[in-house]
Amino acid sequence: MGPMDVAERIRARIHREGPIPFAAYMTMALDEPDGFFARARGAGRAGGDFITSPRVGSLFGRLVARALDDEWRALGEPDPFIVIEGGAGDGTLARDVLRAAPACTRALRYVLVERSPALRAEQRDRLAVEPPEDALGPFVRAGGDGVPEPVAGAGPVVTQLEDLPALSVEGVVFANELLDNLAFGVIERTAAGWSNVCVGLAADGATLTEILVDAPLTGTKSGSAAHGADLGVRLPVAVGAAEWVTQAARTLSRGAILLVDYFATTDELVERSPAWLRTYREHRRGHDPLVSPGECDITADVPLDAVVAAARAAGCSIADGPPPTQAEWLAQLGIAAEVDAARALLERAADPRVTDALVARSTITEAAALTDPSGLGAHRVVRLARSRH
Ligand SMILES: C[S@@+](CC[C@H](N)C(=O)[O-])C[C@H]1O[C@@H](n2cnc3c(N)ncnc32)[C@H](O)[C@@H]1O
Repeated sequence: MGPMDVAERIRARIHREGPIPFAAYMTMALDEPDGFFARARGAGRAGGDFITSPRVGSLFGRLVARALDDEWRALGEPDPFIVIEGGAGDGTLARDVLRAAPACTRALRYVLVERSPALRAEQRDRLAVEPPEDALGPFVRAGGDGVPEPVAGAGPVVTQLEDLPALSVEGVVFANELLDNLAFGVIERTAAGWSNVCVGLAADGATLTEILVDAPLTGTKSGSAAHGADLGVRLPVAVGAAEWVTQAARTLSRGAILLVDYFATTDELVERSPAWLRTYREHRRGHDPLVSPGECDITADVPLDAVVAAARAAGCSIADGPPPTQAEWLAQLGIAAEVDAARALLERAADPRVTDALVARSTITEAAALTDPSGLGAHRVVRLARSRH
């Protein structure tokens, strides 16, 4: 008999332990060595109809570069300025940011955090990646009289890690479409309160099936909508996202965490229940997440209230009011001027095939995709500020 596959290991665990929480099921189905991420090389939605903003083209990276400059200036132009990109994928965004030559370039140490080894290998094809010790230190060197002096102007230095570094630095943590892929629990409103949706086995001992387990789940019922939710309403519990944001906050002594994702408030999640959970198979919307574990991506809208609560508990602050949509955020960063300049160039271009004209045309198409209110433009951009120390 060959080694067990991920589905068999999930069944074996349930035989041993009884029904397992949905978050534990999801972690196994996605993260095991033969789980979805290993099979799909980590880029679950990077194709077909489900494209992420960095993959639309280089415009997103050019605008993110401006956002990084804004943060750098707000911090008083520190050198080094550390940018940590969580779930950095194949390095496309990092490459586009560096190509945009932001003002912070000489101070910039760019840390790609990506847990997929295959994608880290692709990053090395795209970027000159230095060992972590070169990018993350030394920030000082021994001066002539033995007094340490800061190493300035060494950037850009790029490095890659599997996990968030255990550092406390000045800079930015950025993540595009990472949190929606981190493990979440599922709770359901029942007559008795809220139950934890677990994964167990049907009577045949083989088919995976949902089992509701009464469980006191604190921190998940915040929001008036959740209290009054109708029977059967389901909500995600942001276990993985809350933990990741807590760790991200710890890596910053001063700076900001910028998160771009499908965020939703508790009210919105109640409204959308249960469609906030999505599965993708071969770049198409899939169906039941319990069918064929390891063969589909499982994602959810990210519970905004839980992420904000975790960030606040970790010492971050957030501006009042709803976070901007991606379309609004890109407008603040000057996307309209990019489009106007591209249009003006196209009008002037004698030959529509020259590179500049092609780039201009692409800019116009990319801007439309990035700000599409029924697509990427509807993502929310959450900025969590860290100003302690
Ligand atoms: C949906 S993809 C987004 C990739 C890229 N940010 C983009 O926008 O194209 C999510 C990425 O996060 C990575 N990932 C998931 N969990 C992670 C974790 N805990 N730490 C680092 N990377 C993670 C996945 O391997 C995948 O490359």
